[in-house]
Amino acid sequence: MLIDSFKVEDWFNKYEKQAKYDLADTCIESLSINDLLKICEIPYSYLNKIFDKKLNYGDIHGSQNLKLGICSLYENQNPENITITHGAIGANQLVMLSLVEPNDKIVSIVPTYQQHYSIPKSFGGNVHLYFLKEENNWLPDLSELERLVGSDTKLICMNNPNNPTGSIIPDEMLEQIVQIAQKSGAYILCDEVYRGLKHKGNPFSKSIVDMYEKGISTGSMSKVFSLAGLRLGWVCASKQIINDINLQREYNTISIGILDDYFASLALENKDKIIARNLEKLYIGKKILVDWINSEPNVDCIVPEAGTTAFVKYLLPIKSVNLCRNLQNETGVMLLPGETLEIDGYVRVGYGNNFEQLKRGLEIFSYWMKNQK
Ligand SMILES: Cc1ncc(COP(=O)(O)O)c(C=O)c1O
Repeated sequence: MLIDSFKVEDWFNKYEKQAKYDLADTCIESLSINDLLKICEIPYSYLNKIFDKKLNYGDIHGSQNLKLGICSLYENQNPENITITHGAIGANQLVMLSLVEPNDKIVSIVPTYQQHYSIPKSFGGNVHLYFLKEENNWLPDLSELERLVGSDTKLICMNNPNNPTGSIIPDEMLEQIVQIAQKSGAYILCDEVYRGLKHKGNPFSKSIVDMYEKGISTGSMSKVFSLAGLRLGWVCASKQIINDINLQREYNTISIGILDDYFASLALENKDKIIARNLEKLYIGKKILVDWINSEPNVDCIVPEAGTTAFVKYLLPIKSVNLCRNLQNETGVMLLPGETLEIDGYVRVGYGNNFEQLKRGLEIFSYWMKNQK
């Protein structure tokens, strides 16, 4: 089946290895197993428990411990509302596989992860993009969205908190989006991989699955828990939706692997400590970023309220793909071009990872911009 190339992933494949200053990454500095044990205040000898485990398929749909840990991230969900997947990328794909048929109308709110429009398009879906605008603080204009959704939409896809903008939809607005979906009977797939990283107040904003019977939340260990290497994600939805997804999953996944299940369960049991560590890192990185934005005349940016990335507008007459390619070739600074997220004139900056690289990379970017004039 034909599918568009995944522009963000292609960019990373091409440029990430040789980056000297990687300002494109969306992960907060990843944890090693040793880091995880230290944060959880668990002795190394604890690992003995797993050395004797037989490496069979384990619990096919994920262990009860793991599912209970995931339930604790939601207000009102039970293990039967969860299925475990190969990262959020696997979760999103399974949702599409189980819901989308040729000619279905899909509304995808962009910028977002490209899965949310290219996969349904590849299945023959009739995909409409709804573009968020900077002048609306990267939040949807609800009357425009309602007009686009109309009465015949099967699925609305969104990403909240948003990558790349770092915006977060307020609860009341999310409630209104649910009402728009209800009118056409549409499902809402909300990719919530950054949920748990709101910078102020409760780090967990409302989940779509706790608000709407046709709401589907996808999440993972990659961003909020800094454990992308576990490749463990999930779908959380009504029992009926999960049963339909599991029908597809049997052909796709079998199980996620007992070691991944085990370490993810441990991280979830200690979620408060890991999230506190990550919010602290985001606080430091965001300060470096905001200080730079305030002092740099060639850029403008809505300051992110959640997640790990900012979408920075630059005031140079150059396409973002050319800017990022030239900048990296000439200086080693890696940014992600807005064009890979369907919006030119912007670059995405990740600010949760290596602060030395962030600081120096932004300085070099400033110097480079000055010399382009
Ligand atoms: C919005 C969004 N969804 C999904 C993914 C995939 O995450 P995972 O590592 O859990 O597969 C990413 C990764 O960058 C992402 O940014």
